[in-house]
Amino acid sequence: MRICSVVGARPQFIKAAMVSRALMEAGIEEVLIHTGQHYDANLNRIFFEELGLPEPQVHLGVGSGTHAEQTGLMMIRLEAALRGMHPAPDWVLVYGDTNSTLAGALVAAKLQLPLAHVEAGLRSFNRRMPEEINRVVTDHLAQLLFAPTPTAVENLRREGITRGVHLTGDVMQEAVRCYAAVARRRVPLTMLTFHDPGGYYLATVHRAENTDDPVRLQGIFEGLGRLDLPVILPLHPRTRKCLDSGLRVPPNVELRDPVGYLAMLTLVQHARAVLTDSGGLQKEAVWLGVPCITLREETEWVETLEGGWNQLAGADPERIVAAVNRRPEQPPSFAWEQAASRRIAELLRASR
Ligand code: UD1
Ligand code: UDP
Repeated sequence: MRICSVVGARPQFIKAAMVSRALMEAGIEEVLIHTGQHYDANLNRIFFEELGLPEPQVHLGVGSGTHAEQTGLMMIRLEAALRGMHPAPDWVLVYGDTNSTLAGALVAAKLQLPLAHVEAGLRSFNRRMPEEINRVVTDHLAQLLFAPTPTAVENLRREGITRGVHLTGDVMQEAVRCYAAVARRRVPLTMLTFHDPGGYYLATVHRAENTDDPVRLQGIFEGLGRLDLPVILPLHPRTRKCLDSGLRVPPNVELRDPVGYLAMLTLVQHARAVLTDSGGLQKEAVWLGVPCITLREETEWVETLEGGWNQLAGADPERIVAAVNRRPEQPPSFAWEQAASRRIAELLRASR
């Protein structure tokens, strides 16, 4: 049995690392295809090294571009790679909601190769987000849909998708469970900052809806500037480009290059709170018992809002400050995921 996994962006390397390991343990052959969407060492290489993800057998080298340029070039190169694969893969496996996901889904569907989607059923119900378009299309093309949460299963049902849907649990949670302590040991806080545990906020901003709107982006930075502690902000290259167009960075905001997964887990665990527009980071903060303020108007991960552990603050400085000052009372309640990736491997095998 042979699975062909298509990855390309930072969060996909984390998810694929967990599934890849489970496939190997199940004795299933995997061919890893990297689209080249993320190529800087700290968005790419470091995740392969830290998480032991095998070298991609095929690298499409696509890089950056407009949505059509990037997705189109991925499709052209991926089609050639999949057509040249003998025997053809039993499943093409795609992850999440990036342009690499969409390209993988469209090419597999047109080549009539069975398509499986990890992190199926997530919805923001905001079609202005490129990710929402990517997810909806991918879910409607996939034959196997691995939903991380019951909400995701319900979202699919409401769109008429019930066949091939499996509630597997969240592979990102499995990764946090696996690496949280490893991170504290291998990359302790003292290697990353002079700040004490609890003596800083951690922030990330990279969503197009924030970076492509100067008013929203400045609002977020103004909110960060009004906080009572330093803010460590590992900056995505998309956001770094905004510095050239006049973005004002308050003095308590410490910009740095993106960090690896282990450094990030350490920074999260010791932060007073996390402020972010990232999907993955919202969940990681809550799972690690650190309050999260989401710099968006909605979230796909509605479970994180329970008990006030995650709060939606948009890009408004006043809402951001008010959210930071509200602390959740009860500890977050959830059971740690242990077997999502194993379930996915078993379902792929059983559905051949
Ligand atoms: C992509 C995903 C987003 C995901 C994010 C994870 C899409 C539509 N978006 O956004 O859902 O949350 O990845 O981090 O797929 N760049 C570099 N170096 C790199 C990669 C990108 O400098 O290695 C710069 C380029 O200027 C590029 C910009 O960042 O134009 C945006 O990159 P892109 O891959 O288009 O989207 P992301 O913002 O990374
Ligand atoms: N992350 C990281 N280093 C960083 C920023 C994020 O390792 O500098 C990790 C983060 O902990 C999470 C994942 O990358 O596991 C989330 O990716 P990102 O925010 O880029 O994408 P999203 O989840 O929003 O699609």
